Amino acid sequence: MGSKIVTFVLGGREVEVMVKPMTTLQAVLRYQLGYTAVKEGCRQGGCGSCTVLVEGEPVLACLLPAEDVAGQQVTTLESITPVDGLDPLQQAFLDASGFQCGYCTPGMIMVSKALLEHNPRPTREEILDALAGNICRCTGYEPIVAAVEGAAQAGAAPGAQRR
Ligand code: FES
Ligand code: FES
Repeated sequence: MGSKIVTFVLGGREVEVMVKPMTTLQAVLRYQLGYTAVKEGCRQGGCGSCTVLVEGEPVLACLLPAEDVAGQQVTTLESITPVDGLDPLQQAFLDASGFQCGYCTPGMIMVSKALLEHNPRPTREEILDALAGNICRCTGYEPIVAAVEGAAQAGAAPGAQRR
């Protein structure tokens, strides 16, 4: 089976990509389209660093064949980052020092984005539950939870897609 063109909507813009069979969405976004906020961590579904939103729901892009998102809406951290500043969730992570090396941060933010979209005032347990699949080796998680709590308190509404 040869390569084929896959069309999907990335950050509100339709993109067409030539995709080899079983190429992951993570590889297409990061290496073919240059969306480097989509991290390459474990590549086996265990760390959450590659998390993006598909139709508004968090998915592990390292496990998803790119052809499966044909016709769907894909959102990465780049998609929610304003050209002239930060998304309120990004600002909340900054304010709470919710990162150190930052490798896990895009995945954490995308999961949090979906959480706040569905549940603008999550409890601490709901935040912990939402972030349970995302691993951070640096922060001890407390600042990350504080960032999401801060974003919720600030009413961080989901931002428009920008890229
Ligand atoms: S790189 Fe996808 S879950 Fe770790
Ligand atoms: S900030 Fe380094 S892995 Fe989370």
